[in-house]
Formats: sequence, C-alpha cells, structure tokens
Amino acid sequence: MAASAHDQQLPEAISEEALARIQASSDSASLEALRVEYLGKKGRLTGALRALGSLAPAERPAFGQRVNRAKEALDAALAARGEELRLRRREAALEASAVDVTLPGFGPTPGRPHPLSRTLTEICDVLGGMGFTVEEGPEVEDDYHNFEALNMPADHPARDMQDTFFVGDDRVLRTHTSPVQIRVMERQPPPLRIIAPGAVYRNDDDATHSPMFHQVEGLMVDRGVTFAHLKGVLTTFLRRVFEREVGVRLRPSFFPFTEPSVEVDVGCVVCGQRGGECRVCKGTGWLEILGAGMVDPAVFAHVGYDPEEFTGFAFGVGVERIAMLKYGIDDIRLFYGGDLRFLRQF
Ligand code: PHE
Repeated sequence: MAASAHDQQLPEAISEEALARIQASSDSASLEALRVEYLGKKGRLTGALRALGSLAPAERPAFGQRVNRAKEALDAALAARGEELRLRRREAALEASAVDVTLPGFGPTPGRPHPLSRTLTEICDVLGGMGFTVEEGPEVEDDYHNFEALNMPADHPARDMQDTFFVGDDRVLRTHTSPVQIRVMERQPPPLRIIAPGAVYRNDDDATHSPMFHQVEGLMVDRGVTFAHLKGVLTTFLRRVFEREVGVRLRPSFFPFTEPSVEVDVGCVVCGQRGGECRVCKGTGWLEILGAGMVDPAVFAHVGYDPEEFTGFAFGVGVERIAMLKYGIDDIRLFYGGDLRFLRQF
C-alpha cells in the first residue's frame, strides 16, 4: 500500500521550524549543526525526499517540488544568517580594538646629548676652530706610554700622584690622556697641533672625583713655540668655553713631562671672582681648571724629536670639571647615574 504524502512530516513544517532555529542561532558552529540536521545526508529534509519512493507516482512530482522549495529556502536562510553572524563578529572585533582618535597623542620624546658629551663637543669645537685636530689612543695603555716616555721612569715618585689601576704586568688603565701625545709624536714628525679627548681612570671616588672621568689633551709642537703661545691659546680657549671674559691665572707647578709646568686657574664662574663666602672657589675667587707646560726635552728624546729645533706646549683639561662649573653641578656622580630628572635639564 502506497503511503500518502500526508503521512510524512510536511516539508513546510520542517522548514518553518528550521528557519526559526536558523534565525535564533548565534554562532557559525550551531549554524553548521543545523545545516547537517536538516540538509545533511541523514538530514530531515533529505529524509523527506527519500520518502518520495513510497508515495503514489501521481503525488511524487508535487511533493518533490515542495521538498526542493523547502531546501532552497533553508539554503538561502543559512547563507543569509551566516553572513549576518560574520558581520556581527567583525563589528565586535573592531569595537574591541577601537582607538579613540580624539584622545591627545603621546608627543615624541627625542633624545639629547648627555651634558658630558655636550661639553666634550664644545671643547673640541673651540680647539678645532683654533687649528687642533682630534687624535685618539687606547684606554688600556702600556707602562711605557702612560709613564716611562712621559719622563716617569719606574720608581719615579710622580707615579704616586696618580692612583693607577693595573690590569696586567705591563698594562694600566690610562691615568691621563698624555700617552696620546707620545703615540702621535711616535708616528708623525713635527709640526703638529692635536687634541686627544677621552676617558681616563684613577682609583679615586667622592663627590668631585670619579674612578673614570674624561680629559682633553692638547699638544702643539713647531719651531719657535713659546710659553706665550701656550698662555694665549689657553686664555682664548677658556673664554670661548665659558662664554665670558673669565680671568686666567698661571701658577708654577710640576709635571714630569713639562718644564716649566703650570696649573691654570680661571676666575670663579660662580661668584664672578669676588670670593668672599663663595663655596665653589672657597673664597679665593679662582678655580683650578687645567695643567699645562712646555714639553720637556726628555719627552722629545723618547720620540726622536730634536729639542734644539722644536719646542712645544701641552695641556690637559678635565671635562667633568668644566661641565660642573658651566652648569653649576655639585656632584660628579650625577653624570654617571643615568637619572632622567637630572639629564632632562639639559
Ligand atoms: N696629564 C696631566 C694630568 O692628568 C695634565 C697635563 C697634561 C699637564 C699636559 C701638563 C701637560 O694631571
């Protein structure tokens, strides 16, 4: 006995139920589950189509058409709902990553030169403008260049002036930039006019001394270089660096590698040379700023320069000392602490 189409669940009823569930589905996984449930191989509409064989032949075409229409409606609904859910997902993702373009931005935070680099650059610029060219030498030096060739033979008492860091039998961290004088004179004949900026090391550590600090060495050698040239160069140099007409005073001193030797003072840049209660110059009105002198003939002998033909002057200036005076910094350790509150002031 042929079954009637009415014994089957009506395709319209199936699709009505399916359409409602598709509309209510909230994600693509449940949507896919619905597709399988209704349109899959063992799906309910597919099942309805399979039942076609059990219908009377006359009913088959009409019933088949109804099933197909129901399938088409489901297909369309699945596609539409899928698209809707995709859009909703995208909107949610956009919202989650939303940027409020009306908020104020973070300004760029540009770097700037460290006050020591700045001072070093200024010193080199001023001396560069006076015809001195920059030379460099190693920070790990041998005994010969740091001491011996600078007229400080072993056991020379002047070696005690500098608290040396030894890093090997014959190796020291250079205690000053003066060894660069030797290295330059070893490789080139006079005349020469050089400066040698760089780090130097001494076993010393307090508010005004750091175990590592910086010097700029100066050396000029030629025929007829006199002490007056030294004084003129230093006076011009110091006035340009401090950007004012500071007083300059030379006091007799001693260095093994210069003769005669001087210590050079500038009028106190804090109290304007008035002295009195000034804590920086301790009331003297003067600040010791560098060491200098005429190159000792014994140094020329080590590098093979003829002291009868050539004379020269040399000086060594502390970069931290100049920076501290220029910018009113009272503790040398501020230069190396990396404290941004300090650094941002420059
Ligand atoms: N090298 C000396 C120091 O570090 C400074 C100096 C350099 C003195 C050149 C005279 C000539 O104290």
